[in-house]
Amino acid sequence: MRSTKYPDSKQEEFLESQMRFRTVFDLSTLGNKIILPGLKIIQVNPAMVALLGYDTKEDLLGTEILNYSPADHHQHWQTLQRHLWEDSSPSFSLETILIKKDSSLIWVNVTSILFPESGRHLGYTIVEDITEKHALRLHKEEFISIDSHELKTPITSLKAVLQLLNKMVRKETIINEKISTLANEAQLYTAKLIHLVEDLLNTSKYERGELHLQKIIFPLSHVIDGCCNHVKLDRKHYVSHSGDLNVKVYADRHKIDQILVNLINNAVKYAPDSEEIIISLERLENSTKISVIDRGQGIPPKDVAHLFDRYYQVEKGEKENSGLGLGLYISSEIIKKHGDEIGVKSIIGKGSTFWFTLPDK
Ligand SMILES: Nc1ncnc2c1ncn2[C@@H]1O[C@H](COP(=O)(O)OP(=O)(O)O)[C@@H](O)[C@H]1O
Ligand SMILES: [Mg+2]
Repeated sequence: MRSTKYPDSKQEEFLESQMRFRTVFDLSTLGNKIILPGLKIIQVNPAMVALLGYDTKEDLLGTEILNYSPADHHQHWQTLQRHLWEDSSPSFSLETILIKKDSSLIWVNVTSILFPESGRHLGYTIVEDITEKHALRLHKEEFISIDSHELKTPITSLKAVLQLLNKMVRKETIINEKISTLANEAQLYTAKLIHLVEDLLNTSKYERGELHLQKIIFPLSHVIDGCCNHVKLDRKHYVSHSGDLNVKVYADRHKIDQILVNLINNAVKYAPDSEEIIISLERLENSTKISVIDRGQGIPPKDVAHLFDRYYQVEKGEKENSGLGLGLYISSEIIKKHGDEIGVKSIIGKGSTFWFTLPDK
C-alpha cells in the first residue's frame, strides 16, 4: 500500500483527507464519478446511479461512459478525453446528452478535473442534470422567434391609449383618486412590458446578425440627462454624476441610451438599498469610460463571469425577478459591435460597478 510511505502523522493526515473526500463524493447531490483515461468508470456515487436511473453502483462500475452516450455525442467525450489527458488541461466542462436505463435522454453539464493517484491520472467528473434548464432555453428561443409585429403593434397601441387616458385623468378636476392611481399604474406596467418585449426582440434580431449602428458624435449629457427620470420618480434612489457631461463620443446614441437605462434599472432592482447611484465619466486616451456604480450587496464571483451571457440571472432566492436576463447580454453585444469594452467589478457587501468605453471619434 502506498500509505506505508508516509510517516505516522502524515499518514493520518492522508487517511483523514481520503475519508473527507469519500464523504463529499458519496453525499454530493450531483452525480460524481471517477474514470480512467479510456473512459471506463471505476467509482460512482449514489446520485450518479440515480441520475442514470440504475439501482446500484455495481450496475455502472467497470462499464464505459460511451455506453450511456448517444453515438452522435461520443465526440463530446473524446474532446474531454483529449483536453484532460493529452493537453493536460486542469479542468474541462461540456454539455451533452446521456441515455438513462429506461432509454430516456437527459441533458447534462459535465465538469471534469484530473487528479493523480498511484502513479496514474484519473478523471474526477461531476455530472448535473440540466434537462429542465435546457428545455426552458429552447422554449424561450422558440418564443422569441415569433413575428415581432404581432407583439409590437398591440403594445404600441396600448401605450398610446394609456397616455391619452392619463392626460384626460389629469385634466379632470373631480376624479376618484383610485382611478387616477390605476391609470398611472397601467402606464407604468405597459412601460415595463415594452421593455421586456424589446429585450426579446432585440435579442432575436442580434442573433440573426441584424445589429446595425447609426453612429454620430454627441455629448454624453444627451443620454445621461434623459435616462434617469424614472429613477428620480421612485424616490428611494437618486442619481449623481461625476466627470464632464459635455464630453463627446462617437456612438449609436439610441443604443447607448438603452444600455444606460438597463444599467440604472439593474442598480435600482438589484441594489435596492443603495440610495445613491453614480454615473461616472472618466477620460481615457482616445475614449471615455462610463461607469454606473451602486453600493448594493454585490455579485458573487462565481456569477460575475457569466453576467453577460444570454438569459443569465443570479439566483436571488425569494426576491422579485422581473427581467429575462437579457439586458446585459444585449448591452455587451452593442458595445462589442462598437469595438469597445464592457465589464463589471463587484465586491460582496460593497456594491457593483458596471462600465463600458466609447471612442471619441
Ligand atoms: N447592479 C447590480 N447588482 C447586483 N446584481 C446585478 C446588478 N446588475 C445586474 N445584476 C445581476 O445580473 C443579472 C443579469 O442582468 P440583466 O442582463 O440586466 O438581466 P435582468 O435585469 O433581466 O435580470 C440580474 O438578474 C442580476 O442578478
Ligand atoms: Mg436588466
